[in-house]
Amino acid sequence: MKTDFIDIADHDAASLRAILNDAKSRKDARKGLPKGVPDADKPLEGRILAMIFDKQSTRTRISFDVGMRQLGGTTIMLTGSQMQLAREETIADTARVLSRYVDVVMIRLLDHEMVMDLAANCTAPVINGLTKLSHPCQVMADILTFEEKFGSIQGRTVAWSGDANNVCTSWIHAAAKLDFTLRVAAPPELQSRPALRDWVHKVGAKVEFGSDAEAAVEGADCVVSDAWVSMGDEDSTKRHNLLKPFQVNSKLMARANKDALFMHCLPAHRGEEVTDDVIDGPQSAVWDEAENRLHVQKSIMAWTLGAI
Ligand code: CP
Ligand code: NVA
Repeated sequence: MKTDFIDIADHDAASLRAILNDAKSRKDARKGLPKGVPDADKPLEGRILAMIFDKQSTRTRISFDVGMRQLGGTTIMLTGSQMQLAREETIADTARVLSRYVDVVMIRLLDHEMVMDLAANCTAPVINGLTKLSHPCQVMADILTFEEKFGSIQGRTVAWSGDANNVCTSWIHAAAKLDFTLRVAAPPELQSRPALRDWVHKVGAKVEFGSDAEAAVEGADCVVSDAWVSMGDEDSTKRHNLLKPFQVNSKLMARANKDALFMHCLPAHRGEEVTDDVIDGPQSAVWDEAENRLHVQKSIMAWTLGAI
């Protein structure tokens, strides 16, 4: 049975911990090495990663590419529009063909069901590089970043302020699996879907849903925001008005713990979901989060291929 990495919710805490621990030790072992030098053990030597992007990306495409090289493997970069997918070859048939050529597939595609379909028909592991529903690699990097500063996230409190989008969903999954409190402040129109809220209830996760950003941030260890307009939402005109009260500025940050981190997956829209003084300020962890995409995704790839 091959192992995919589609959602944090699909995996138990021990697996997530194994990935995070491997990422920490690989990152430590590389201190001072030039970025192009492979890790000493080259655990994925001879392996090939195919990356399919149907949407824009800076961090995901570069960090997966560099990460696979550091693990000793090689990569192939593809875009949906250049593939026969754009001429109606099905994702299932594409999966069957990819299975014959490559060892692991990473895909960014808004349609989550299509990613599930790819995984179901591909004998190589499939990694979710962002769908409309979730962004698990991002949140694994964020947890790594949190734990570098504070130690275990278990029992700590994270506040989300803004659109309860794909990144927020992966934070909700992580709160359930790694046992921390997540307070989600979002306008009612942009709050998490009922099915997700039912899941939270069913698994007994410590996730609180509300629409008061100040209350959510009060005493939090980490405040997270993201774009008001995610990929695929560009035609929604109401969002800016709905989301104005959720901007993370110094007044809102002042309600969090004194040493609280500010996180954002990037790209940021300065002056919208976050102000310059916060994202450029001493509490901001955004560049560490971006770096940690590289470290944690290496461990996700190694884990899907049975190398940890
Ligand atoms: N955070 C993130 O996934 O960035 P990219 O869209 O640049 O890959
Ligand atoms: N929520 C954002 C994340 C971008 C990395 C989006 O889906 O566009």
